[in-house]
Parts: sequence; C-alpha cells; structure tokens
Amino acid sequence: MDRTLVICKPDAVERGLVGEIVSRLERKGLQLAAAELRLIDPDLAAEHYAEHAGKPFYNELVAFITRSPALLMVVEGPADTWQVVRGLMGATNPAEALPGTIRGDLATTVTENLVHGSDSPAAAEREIKLFFPELAPA
Ligand code: RTP
Ligand code: MG
Repeated sequence: MDRTLVICKPDAVERGLVGEIVSRLERKGLQLAAAELRLIDPDLAAEHYAEHAGKPFYNELVAFITRSPALLMVVEGPADTWQVVRGLMGATNPAEALPGTIRGDLATTVTENLVHGSDSPAAAEREIKLFFPELAPA
C-alpha cells in the first residue's frame, strides 16, 4: 500500500467539515492508517512548511495552521495516493478549484482552504515521519 499525509486544517475542524472530508477520501477508496486530532505547535509548523519560509504569506500560514487543533492523518491506497488526494483537494486557491473538489465545493479563501496533502512521494515520506514518527514504514 502507498501512503500520504493529509491534514484537515483548523478551519475544517472549526466548521465541522472533518466528517465530510474523511468521507470523500473513504468514498474514493482510500483508507485511514492513522489519525490524531492535535494542536500543531509553531516549531512543527515551521518544519512542515519550511519550503515557504520568507514568502509573503508565510506568517499568516503558520498563524492559521497553529490556531486550533487539526486532524492529522496517514491515508493509504493502492498506488500514487498523494496524487489521488491532491486531485480530491482541488487547486490551492479555492477560487480556482473546480466544483467537485473539497476546496472547490467547500472553501473560499486561499489561507483557509481546509486541507493539506503531501505534494510528492518524497514529501509524503518526509511528512509522515514528521507527524507520526512512531509509525513504521508501510
Ligand atoms: P498545502 O501545502 O497546505 O497542502 O497547500 P498546497 O500544497 O496546495 O499549496 P502550497 O503552495 O504548498 O502553499 C501552502 C499554503 O500556503 C497558502 N498560500 N497562500 N497567498 C498566497 O499566494 C498563498 N499561496 C499559498 C495556502 O493556504 C496553501 O495551502
Ligand atoms: Mg503544499
């Protein structure tokens, strides 16, 4: 099985959309391998979003992802799971995300865009280790 990291961001938990998002992943045919509701601390957020350090939206991004608990998940499927999840998520900016996607159907702003999904096999491996260090490789 192939695994990726998915986060239902604080806005998803606050708006009561965790069930909707997990349901979409499950209906697609993906399964949860691990899940934990956790407040991401600023150090962990900085490590997770290191590629964005110094960008104009970075401070807002870290403030948002750390403001209230997020649902961290390891999601698995037969192959290319990161890509399957990215397709279900839709474009980063909900204004550009197509109807039928999570962001296209349920979000309106680029910061509060409900979900994170790893964007490559290498990112999936790195992020699973970062958030679930106790998990053995699949
Ligand atoms: P994520 O990492 O959260 O799954 O989102 P993503 O891959 O679709 O987008 P990414 O480029 O990695 O950006 C991470 C988050 O930063 C915010 N962002 N704001 N104002 C802007 O131009 C801008 N660009 C990115 C978004 O909240 C995005 O999810
Ligand atoms: Mg990203």
